[in-house]
Amino acid sequence: MSPSSRQTTEPGTVRVRLYRFDPETDREPRYDTYDVPHRPRMRIIDVLDHIHDIEAVDFAYRWFCGTKKCGTCAVNVNGSPKLACWEEAECEMTIEPLKNLPLLRDLVTSRDPFEEALATLAPMIARKESYEGFPEPLSAKDMAGGDHLRDCIQCLACQSACPVLQQPGSGFAGPALLVQLSDLAQDPRDHADRARLADEVAQVFKCVSCYECERVCPTGIPIVSEAIEPLKRLVYGKGAVGARRTRAFVEVVKARGYADAARIALKTNGVSLKALRVALRLGRRGKLGLGSVLGDRSAPAAEAIRKAYQSHEDAE
Ligand code: SF4
Ligand code: SF4
Ligand code: FES
Repeated sequence: MSPSSRQTTEPGTVRVRLYRFDPETDREPRYDTYDVPHRPRMRIIDVLDHIHDIEAVDFAYRWFCGTKKCGTCAVNVNGSPKLACWEEAECEMTIEPLKNLPLLRDLVTSRDPFEEALATLAPMIARKESYEGFPEPLSAKDMAGGDHLRDCIQCLACQSACPVLQQPGSGFAGPALLVQLSDLAQDPRDHADRARLADEVAQVFKCVSCYECERVCPTGIPIVSEAIEPLKRLVYGKGAVGARRTRAFVEVVKARGYADAARIALKTNGVSLKALRVALRLGRRGKLGLGSVLGDRSAPAAEAIRKAYQSHEDAE
């Protein structure tokens, strides 16, 4: 059956709009439509296999283990990244390649940027001390920090979902790399300067905590709370450059009881051309109120927030 343009799904079929693009020969991407006979418990990969075997032998896709182990089969289905070998087929699916990775052909993206970036994060345990014994005496408690992180199968679904990575030249490493880095940073045997790597190389503070990566992770890793936040805490504790804005935010809210945008920008960037540009931008968005300029401390509930900070500190 050749690609069709019918609008309705026939009973017992899966209607697929399939992304096709070969950057070497095609001018622009296109979507081919296929109706695939449905089978009980049919997975997305079964649908792709059918299209490849019966309808379009030149169509490129990738999978290896078929059992949620190798992380090679992730694709976007109806706009959300999914493991094709693990998720059930839906009756209507638009299937596209993962985002935020260079496209090789059709559904196949290059993993090179991920592998190259991983190599810059010293992705092995860096020891200062020799082994205490072999096998090394490590308790479950010692290794609890990175426990869930070691479930990562490097499928890159989270990289595809991250909105920060959609900004060209963001410099942000992305969630999949932060998971690897955080696992090492929480390993008691590791003595590399993970705070510097998280701050300067991975730029962890560019994460906006939107939780999209966690939402799509097929192995259910709590990426934000167990990988990214521990890294942010590590960087913050070392007073590194990337934590400057967070530190300024905490200091300003603690002192004034509200997030005074102008003061946070000033504390973060100092008096500079950059600070002036940030102030102008805040002014245009209406976030630079008179209170910021005149030192007004009467924002609603400001006193309660200051007290909450104080009692939290007293309790620590
Ligand atoms: S929480 Fe951070 S890393 Fe995860 S998708 Fe959002 S911005 Fe990206
Ligand atoms: S953290 Fe989850 S979504 Fe991201 S690469 Fe690992 S397994 Fe895939
Ligand atoms: S084919 Fe290995 S995880 Fe899907």
